[in-house]
Amino acid sequence: MSESLEVIGAVQSFDGRRVLDGVDLDVPPGTVVGLLGPNGAGKTTLMRIIFGVLDADEGEVRWRGGAVGGATRRTWGYMPQERGLYREMRTLDHLVWLARLYGVDRVQARQRAIDLLEQLGLGDRARDPIRELSGGMAQRVQLAAAMVHGPELLVLDEPFAGLDPGAVDFLTAVIREHVDRGGHLVFSSHQLDLVEDLCESIVLIDRGRVVMSGPVRELRAASPDRYLRVDVDVPPDWLTGLPVRDVRGDAAGSRILLEPGADATVVLDAVRRHSELVDFGVEAPTLSELFLAATGVRR
Ligand SMILES: Nc1ncnc2c1ncn2[C@@H]1O[C@H](COP(=O)(O)OP(=O)(O)OP(=O)(O)O)[C@@H](O)[C@H]1O
Ligand SMILES: [Mg+2]
Repeated sequence: MSESLEVIGAVQSFDGRRVLDGVDLDVPPGTVVGLLGPNGAGKTTLMRIIFGVLDADEGEVRWRGGAVGGATRRTWGYMPQERGLYREMRTLDHLVWLARLYGVDRVQARQRAIDLLEQLGLGDRARDPIRELSGGMAQRVQLAAAMVHGPELLVLDEPFAGLDPGAVDFLTAVIREHVDRGGHLVFSSHQLDLVEDLCESIVLIDRGRVVMSGPVRELRAASPDRYLRVDVDVPPDWLTGLPVRDVRGDAAGSRILLEPGADATVVLDAVRRHSELVDFGVEAPTLSELFLAATGVRR
């Protein structure tokens, strides 16, 4: 029997417009699953269906092989994209109150809330009201709120949006720990490059359809595309006549997409003739490059 959270064939239309067109999702225990895709792809809609906030036109949500009802959903935690915390409540009190709503006893609720705040780097803000926290801090509290009752499944909608690198680290550690203990976790993001190291498995949706899914490492390795990465800016005319399909600059230099099977050293030599470079490498595509290839867009 499946140990997963599963969504099978979700279809959802709004005003006659299909925003989910038969989406499947599998979230096994012990795996970080990323639900990825651009703005408007349908990620939040799918999460709302998982939580029963929306009743899908078609399709099914299953938990460990069985149907899902209210009692099951109370063992889950959801961090919605539109955040909601009581601004006047003190941070620690808020978390304890939420845990109590879920039926956690007072002592345990308090301990768990304190531990979570500590883990999220907010131990010293426990007594402050929510309204005095910065946006990123409030967001970390929102994550704590989703998991203060010790849920088996965590569904996090854009948990990384607007966080500084330190906060991204705190949150990553909490996510990892939940999953390493055998928990289920799916989170959404449109920032593919930010999250690709964290996801073991991804479901990439675009305009309501799954365009790619599976373990990130396998997806990257299976792609025939190879990029020559160099730490200098390469204008296209340096590469005239070479087996190159595309050149794109980024903050670190340039990424040169090679023709399939091309010899990277030929291209590297051409770049070297124009410029001294320190760092280079031949790499499989990043997740966003895979996505752009899968959706037929190349920059
Ligand atoms: N209640 C609603 N009524 C009408 N249209 C809706 C409703 N909810 C979502 N949509 C539409 O469904 C599509 C998918 O929206 P959704 O919020 O699921 O996208 P998303 O992938 O979460 O995007 P983002 O990255 O911006 O959060 C969008 O075109 C959106 O306008
Ligand atoms: Mg969304």
